[in-house]
Amino acid sequence: MAGSEISRGNWSSKIGFILAAAGSAIGLGNIWRFPFVTGQNGGAVFVLIYVVIVALIGLPVMIAELSIGRHTQRNPVGAFQMLFPRSLWKIVGVVGVLTGLGILSFYAVIAGYTLGYFMKTIVGSFNQIISGEQSTQIFQNFSANPYLSVSYLFIFICLTVVVVMGGIAAGIERWNKILMPLLLGIIIVLAIFSMTLDGAGKGLAFYLKPDLTKITGRTIAQALGQALFSLSLGMGTMLTYGSYLSKKENLVTAAGYVCLFDMVIAVAAGFVIFPALFAMNINPAGGPKLVFVVLPSIFARMPAGMIFGTLFFLLLAVAALTSTVSLLEVPVAYFVDEHRWSRQKAVVAMGLVAFVLGIPSALSLGASSVLTKLVSENFGFLDLMNAIFGNYSLSIGAFFIAVFAGYQWGTTAVAREIQAEGSVFYFRRLWIFLIRFICPIAIFIILAYIAWTGEYF
Ligand code: TRP
Repeated sequence: MAGSEISRGNWSSKIGFILAAAGSAIGLGNIWRFPFVTGQNGGAVFVLIYVVIVALIGLPVMIAELSIGRHTQRNPVGAFQMLFPRSLWKIVGVVGVLTGLGILSFYAVIAGYTLGYFMKTIVGSFNQIISGEQSTQIFQNFSANPYLSVSYLFIFICLTVVVVMGGIAAGIERWNKILMPLLLGIIIVLAIFSMTLDGAGKGLAFYLKPDLTKITGRTIAQALGQALFSLSLGMGTMLTYGSYLSKKENLVTAAGYVCLFDMVIAVAAGFVIFPALFAMNINPAGGPKLVFVVLPSIFARMPAGMIFGTLFFLLLAVAALTSTVSLLEVPVAYFVDEHRWSRQKAVVAMGLVAFVLGIPSALSLGASSVLTKLVSENFGFLDLMNAIFGNYSLSIGAFFIAVFAGYQWGTTAVAREIQAEGSVFYFRRLWIFLIRFICPIAIFIILAYIAWTGEYF
């Protein structure tokens, strides 16, 4: 039976689940996306709104997704269908499956770049960079090479396919146990070094001193998108992961830990990037290339920088892999559960779709000038995919998940699931208030404002 725990596999333990969910959440969203979106949206003020949104929207939506997933033991489409057969709710799941493929396609491009940068660091390309301009030039030469970009994309998709093929507990959990704490450790070392650079103070001020006059509707919309992206919410990833979770675990504490770990890593990454960025006079609004420009210039200045650099890019690639695995798992679970495909067939087919869809993104950081400047001078195909799937689609998804949990399936049903086998539902009334009122209303206002003003990007 598709719904039985035995045939679908389960996480081996609570800590296994937390690590797997944290592994999905922690990735390029924290280390690549968070710094560049913060840089584009005024720094500290963005960070402040981001943290508030994680607490008031991210955490409650995560609890909702996990409980729907665990209750139904299904993929997103199957879950909605099981609870409300022949209703339109299924569309939320279908959009989630498509969004998973959309995000995976451009995410794997950047993940491939981390492999490329791993190789570059090993061979010593960053042993003597001095200026931000040189570092920018190196990135441009790298990303403008269509063969390299597409090959690394292909390699990364293959790695993802291999892990997802191995199934749940064995394939996904194993990676996270030692490597994520190690990643945090190295980020802390880098942050300390970055803060000692000349001129780091300006960066810290940009990152930590909010200028409240800079808040715009767009800032808030970007912070919402970033929070959902970073926590893997709004498209059914956490729902799918919850479906492999045992009834014994407390969903509320699990969700709390995941949100906390995820936020700590993102905020710590900012302490690496911003002091160094200002010390080297790099433009904070540089977009997706930002961390690839800043990081090598840090490693070049650091004692034993080559070793730190190599280790860092390797760990980042692993963090990205545990996230791409969770992205691919959603369409795979859908085809396995709903269309009775074999796991092998689903994994290979969806990997192929993501690869083909990723090619234009891979060519849009310099290799093809049309794709690089698709929307405007600084906004290419990858940025467009990131905005559509990584921002708006997740926001819309989170809105419907909140409405579903708050009104359609209902907070009583959620509470019953959370309290299964005697778990305590901490902050239950607060959660009910947030999921029924704050989440849907805030998301609706943000999206309506963006639609009204047309400030999409
Ligand atoms: N959250 C991951 C990161 O920060 C990316 C990711 C994995 C994701 N699964 C997702 C984003 C589902 C949105 C939805 O790198």
